[in-house]
This record gives sequence, structure tokens and C-alpha cells, in this order.
Amino acid sequence: MRSVYIYTIVLFFLCSACKEEKTSVSDEQAKVEFSQDRFRESYRPQYHFTPPEKWMNDPNGLLFHNGTYHLFYQYYPEDIVWGPMHWGHATSKDLIQWEHKPIALYPDELGLIFSGSAVMDIDNTSGLGTKENPPMVAIFTYHLMAGEQAGRKDFQTQGIAYSLDEGDTWTKYDGNPVIGNDGIKDFRDPKVMWHEASGKWIMSLVAGDHAKFYSSSDLKDWKLESEFGRENGAHGGVWECPDLFPLQVEGSDEQQWVLLISINPGAPNGGSGTQYFVGDFDGKKFTTTQKETKWLDYGTDNYAGVTWNGLPDDERTFIGWMSNWTYARDTPTEVWRSAMTLPRKLTLHQNDKGYYLKNFPVNQIENYTQEPSLQTNGKANVLTGEDFNQNRINFEIDEKLQDFKVTFSNEAGEKLQLGYNAEKANFFVDRTASGKVDFQADFGKEVHFAPSIATSETENTFSIFIDASSVEFFVNGGAVVMTEQIFPTQPYTSISFEGDVTYKDITSSKIERIWD
Ligand code: FRU
Repeated sequence: MRSVYIYTIVLFFLCSACKEEKTSVSDEQAKVEFSQDRFRESYRPQYHFTPPEKWMNDPNGLLFHNGTYHLFYQYYPEDIVWGPMHWGHATSKDLIQWEHKPIALYPDELGLIFSGSAVMDIDNTSGLGTKENPPMVAIFTYHLMAGEQAGRKDFQTQGIAYSLDEGDTWTKYDGNPVIGNDGIKDFRDPKVMWHEASGKWIMSLVAGDHAKFYSSSDLKDWKLESEFGRENGAHGGVWECPDLFPLQVEGSDEQQWVLLISINPGAPNGGSGTQYFVGDFDGKKFTTTQKETKWLDYGTDNYAGVTWNGLPDDERTFIGWMSNWTYARDTPTEVWRSAMTLPRKLTLHQNDKGYYLKNFPVNQIENYTQEPSLQTNGKANVLTGEDFNQNRINFEIDEKLQDFKVTFSNEAGEKLQLGYNAEKANFFVDRTASGKVDFQADFGKEVHFAPSIATSETENTFSIFIDASSVEFFVNGGAVVMTEQIFPTQPYTSISFEGDVTYKDITSSKIERIWD
């Protein structure tokens, strides 16, 4: 990232929009419309969120309010590579079909607008709105390029902005930054939540190799409460994009706290990935007895993911950036770059190895999933007769889990393979010959693995969601997950199912395009 930050400073100073304090939108702009053909370029995901054009990375400011899901995102509107960061904006009624909105936050003299979160300040604790019209408040990191260039360490600070019209227009708080920096080089990505028990706002923030927790009663004045993680979890790279929230253990009354931490590099299959900790949070301090490192997704392309604020207590919905800093800038798209994962429901479970998270596409995707067009059963099977690049494939395995391999192939001889290796007790995704892979040295170099977590549960149900340039592989409703980008030069037209297992209920269903 670092070299890119520096490289783009020139563009930053040329960018006239950077000076804007307040976003103003005319009526015609209030709803950004794009012709339907815009979203049919090759590799354009048909049922995953993408920006209309240009570069996107992390999801930001995830907030559910008044029946609307808000998705803000790291956005550079001038190019398809990372540049001076803005917050792009989209809204949805169901998390699947999105309406693109005007850019929400522009860089200003305090810096570029890096990742962060949003809350509805219902009681107007910040005083930035009124009781009758409470503010939506965005909390984000300012990244001051000039400071970084000058070799200083204090160039990342935390700022806030507010909207009084449901996120359409934003005003920066004139007392920014609300948290300054006394010399921490990587100090970013505030995720704020309302903590009911202490009646305070709690912010999780990362500082290089650990997380810091702050509290506030007004979103403006923040007090450092504690730190976590110098000695916990994976440390192959910088900690980024924290998220702290409570979750009930499925099938019990027990509540635990979950802390998500993205890390780059240092993920199990290289580059960027998201680890998590299960423990306790008392309003000030996060503690855990967890010894091993746990990963949310073993695929290479699920990063910087966080969860929605404002949902009912028993709903925890996550979305991640479907890319990896190792090759994010090199992927073969031209109009836009990068997509989000499918939004996924997070649930917490316990087995004899401890707590673990499942993540699985939200139910709303069912409304876009057609009746199966193909189905089969048995030892070895082949599905043909249609394109499989906008599909969901489900299947089960009868009896014990043994070696199996599912191969998607096309007329160009390209193959995407996924399955299970019993000897290694690993699931795998092999995209080494899946299509275009040579745009970057690491992209197609290796087969990627995910350890089985089977204990009392047998792992025998599988779902594969394949879109124009991605595959999401879910084992047992998301107990093991692998999310990967793929760039086949032609649609896959055949799927073969092989191995030492008997397949049950193989179905292939089309998923409807969300952009019409
Ligand atoms: C994660 C990240 C964040 C940062 C943002 C900058 O992908 O590096 O830590 O805020 O991207 O775009």
C-alpha cells in the first residue's frame, strides 16, 4: 500500500474536489442512473456489488436505518487503481439489489478519507443534529499525504462527519480531528458501536500490531480504555479494519464478543485475510482465552470485511472486499475494479475445539435464485447444457467425507477445481488454470487450502456461488469458506463431480442479475 499512497500524492493536489468541505447534490444527481448496458462488461459481477466505475476497496460505514441498508466504500473516482480516497455510497432495501448514490465524503485539508464506520445518533448525543432530526454520523480515518511524505509518523487521525438527510449530503465536523495522533504510524479504521450496558459509544481502532478501544458519550470526545492483541493471533502484517460485536452462541443463551481483525499480509493462503477472536468485552476491555488463530475465510479474496450497525440484536451481517492487496491493482477489468463478497450472515457456534464463526450468504439471495435448472445424483456426474457463470451449485455427500473434486471447465480448456483432500484433511480451491492468471505473479501460482474443522459435525453440505469473476465455496453453511476471484476467458459450460464419494442432490440454479 505504502508506495501507492506516496505515488498518488500528485494526483491528490491536482484534485479540485479535494477542497470541498460539504457535498452538495442537485436533484438530478440525487439518484445516479446508469444505462443497463453499463453493467454487462466482461467480468462484471451480475449479483455482487460493484461501483459503477473506477476503483473500490474496503466496505465502510455499514448502517441499517429506516429500512435502508447503507454501504459506503473506499473509492477513487479518477482511476481503476488506488488513489486519494473518498467514500462512495450505495443503498439497498434487501442487501442484494443496490442503488448507486453520489460520493459521500471527499478528501479535505486534513487528509484522504480512509476506512471507518457510521452510526445513527438517535439521541443526538453529538449535538450535530436535533432530537427531531438526529444525525447519521460517519467516523473515519484522515490520512494526510503531506505528513507521510515528510516522513512523519502522525499522519493518520480520526475525524467525523454528519448527515441530516439519510446519508445524501455530509458536513465535516469543524472540531476535527476528534482523535489526534502522537506518533503511531498505522492508526486507523474506527468501528463505532453503541454499548448498551455502559451507555457509551465504543470505538475499536487498530494501531499497527494491536487494537485500541475508546469510549465516548458524544462521538466527539474519546477516552482510551484499553488495548488488545500484541501477543494474540496472527501478526504477519499490519492489523486493519477491526470490528467488535456481541453474538449469541447458536442453540444456547450464552453471549460472546467477537473481534474481527483484517491483516495484510499474513493470511493463510498469502496476502490479505481476516482473523477473529471470540472472548469477552466489559465495556472497557476485550479479553479472550483463545489460543489458536482463527480465520473467517480461507480464500484469498475476502478482506477488510465488517458488519452492519443498526440491525436487530440477533442479526449480524457481514460484507468484505473481494480482493487481495497482493494483486488488487492488477486484475483484468477496465471500467471498474473490485467487487464486494455476497453479504453474509455471521453465526457463532461451539464444538469440542471451541467457538467458531460461520458465514453464509443472507437469505435474501434466495429471492434471486431460480428453481434448479439441472440436477443429478450418484458416484460420478457431469452437468452440461448451460453457462455456469451466474449460478449457485448445491450438493451433498452421502456417508463419510472422502476425496472429491468438482471441476468447472470451458471450451478454452480452462478449469476451476474445488474439493477435499482426505489425506491432508483440507478443502481446496485450484484456480491455477481457471482463466487469465498471468496478470500478476502470485495470482495463479498455488492451490489454496482450508483445514477441515470437522469434529462432532460431519461436513457434507456444499454451496458454490459463481459470478462473472468470483467463486464462493461454503462447507456446511459457512463453517469453512473460501472466496476467490477468477477470470475465465469464456463461460464455464461443464461441471464434473468426481472422487471417492457418493453425491446427493446436486443442483444448479441461475441467480438473477441485480442491475435491471
Ligand atoms: C484496508 C486499508 C485500510 C485503510 C484503507 C485505505 O484495505 O488499507 O486500513 O483505511 O484500506 O484505502
